[in-house]
Amino acid sequence: MSRRTKEILAKMTLDDKIYHLEQITTATYLTKGSTYKVITGPNSKLKLDKEMIYDIGTSLNLVGAETMIDALTNYLDKSKSKRPPVFMQDVIHGHRTLYPINLAVAASFDRELARELASMAAKEASLDGVGVTFAPMVDLVRDPRWGRVMESSGEDPYMNSEMAKATVRGFQGDMGKYNLAACVKHFAAYGAAEAGRDYNTVDVSERTLREYYLPAYKAAVDAGVKMLMAAFNIVDGVPCVGNKHLMKDILRDEWGFDGVVISDYGAVEEMIVHGACEDKKEAALRAIEAECDIEMMSSCYAEHLRALIDEGKVTEEQIDKSVLRILDLKESLGILDNPYRSVNVEESKRVQLSPEHRALARKGAEQSAVLLKNDGVLPFSKNVSSVALIGPLASTGKIHGSWHCGGRAEETVSVYEGLSKLLGDRVKYAPGCYVEYNSEDESLFDEAVELAKSSECVVLCLGEHQDYSGEANCRADIELPEIQYKLLDKILEVNKNVAVALFTGRPLAISRLHNTAPAILNMWMPGTEGGNACANLLFGNAVPSGKITMTFPRALGQCPIYYNHYTTGRPKLLKDDLNRVLYTSSYIDVPNSPLYPFGYGLSYTTFEYSDMSLSAAVMKSDEKIVASAKIKNTGGHKGKEAVQLYIRDVKGSCVRPVKELKGFEKIELDVGEEATVSFEITEPMLRYWNQKLEHVSEKGEFEVFIGKDSTCVPFAKFELI
Ligand code: BGC
Repeated sequence: MSRRTKEILAKMTLDDKIYHLEQITTATYLTKGSTYKVITGPNSKLKLDKEMIYDIGTSLNLVGAETMIDALTNYLDKSKSKRPPVFMQDVIHGHRTLYPINLAVAASFDRELARELASMAAKEASLDGVGVTFAPMVDLVRDPRWGRVMESSGEDPYMNSEMAKATVRGFQGDMGKYNLAACVKHFAAYGAAEAGRDYNTVDVSERTLREYYLPAYKAAVDAGVKMLMAAFNIVDGVPCVGNKHLMKDILRDEWGFDGVVISDYGAVEEMIVHGACEDKKEAALRAIEAECDIEMMSSCYAEHLRALIDEGKVTEEQIDKSVLRILDLKESLGILDNPYRSVNVEESKRVQLSPEHRALARKGAEQSAVLLKNDGVLPFSKNVSSVALIGPLASTGKIHGSWHCGGRAEETVSVYEGLSKLLGDRVKYAPGCYVEYNSEDESLFDEAVELAKSSECVVLCLGEHQDYSGEANCRADIELPEIQYKLLDKILEVNKNVAVALFTGRPLAISRLHNTAPAILNMWMPGTEGGNACANLLFGNAVPSGKITMTFPRALGQCPIYYNHYTTGRPKLLKDDLNRVLYTSSYIDVPNSPLYPFGYGLSYTTFEYSDMSLSAAVMKSDEKIVASAKIKNTGGHKGKEAVQLYIRDVKGSCVRPVKELKGFEKIELDVGEEATVSFEITEPMLRYWNQKLEHVSEKGEFEVFIGKDSTCVPFAKFELI
């Protein structure tokens, strides 16, 4: 808390303070001449004073330097206090230049890449006048039906924590003019929504919460994240935004977080719909008691905090604390000195979508694509005589991903554009079918099959519409639509030299595709440069190196399926096939194993692991031991490999997962080159949350694994004494 912000606070009236805690849409402040229409919809539900809205502390979601200047100028003009607001925005996987969805970025297993991409987004957004991004989203996810898995970094707490730290560093940097304050979300366990349905009930034990769900938020807090968003969902029966145990005991007291907490959109008022509060007044009370500083898009605070203070249920000091946090945030962004901060119309035009930014987005897409299958058809030769580009996602810019912020489909390179740039008019295109999940229209088949017949190779762009993932976009069926399978089958009848480029915002249950397609390159939703990256990967200008951080099931019925599960008392230890072993934990109609396990991804080259060693067989808690392995590029391409370290705590006072990711390193090796990768193992890495909710390690045996994915087997053991 600075002296300056305390002085500002001292001059504020109570109403002024209360309005400082509200957040409405930035579009509210646009003048009539603006190119954007005033969004009256959501705001019109709020009961806010027409004059006081010009003293509201923060606002959300508007893109464009000119519009932001217009909004800010108008705000300051009408504001009594002349105190500048902070503009906040969902800058999730890029601002104007979009990079791949976050689930893809995690698949790069590259912390530095994640940092660089976030830093690029921060620069573009800051030039548009944004001060805070509602990112990173670090919710741990296990259910691919949930549309928001695309924003997360997957199912593993260690990976999520590493990506959280890297992304916070990328956005916030040293909080210079081209940085943004980051807001980690959605606290807590929003990703555990039952049945993968958005906003649905979350019910996890406190031990599971701490063991799996909380580490990534904590990592962001430890990395100095400036803000945190309270989630829509309940935890232990209480909506997060009014959940004192989460928001006070854990976040503020245990973790020492003193940054700003914001509610999710309308979440304070939604406590009434949850059945947790009787009315808006009670909702305001519950949220302020839980130290939720900013109320996003509901007006419980503005309508009721004054009365709650008059009645002695809330003190002015409570309000002051929240106001000060917001003022401190403004100070750290420099907007108390310069309300316009970095907004710059000319500079934003120069920087956004610049060749450098496009190059970085392309690198991001190339590094995060995952080669799921390759029977040897890929990479295609650049000397190919003719390419049939087919599929409902082949010639659209709508592959940039669901949170597109300022990005536009018309600025996104489609696969058709990318391939044509690389191969000229040797590329011919036919859509083949429509992308809608329920389309049964086969009228485009013949043209596509003819094209496939007369071409040397086929690139088939299949998958899901980008709007089938993201907020509120959940699916009960995560297979490819039948129409896409029919198209594939028809094409394979006339041409076997086929590679599927898959576009998806989630793991799909694509056993059938795996069984028929000769090659599958998962491009995810690859962002603005997706088409160029796809062309480079398919034709060998780039070598795939991504590995999935969320399990791909064989069938939806296996979900939730994740690698770091417990053994159960009756594991099926024999071969993981359909031969039944009665009374074991298994299915009749599908093996237990997934289609593609966590950490899995192929390359055009091959890597051999050898000479695995552990520096000691016994470790005291103040010692460290080193696990290492030699990795050799034994194939014909220079390539990158994400080397993974897993540990298993063989026996615990609470049962322990079959293995847990504890380290990873991405290395690049030339053809024939060999390198040694070493990981230090220390006692804190062996801690977990026991039944008494203590974070401890327990003496005993640990198994160590180094490998290319989560199916690797242990090579050594050590004992913690
Ligand atoms: C989402 C948040 C987002 C907010 C503001 C909500 O609906 O859950 O992730 O930051 O809207 O756009």
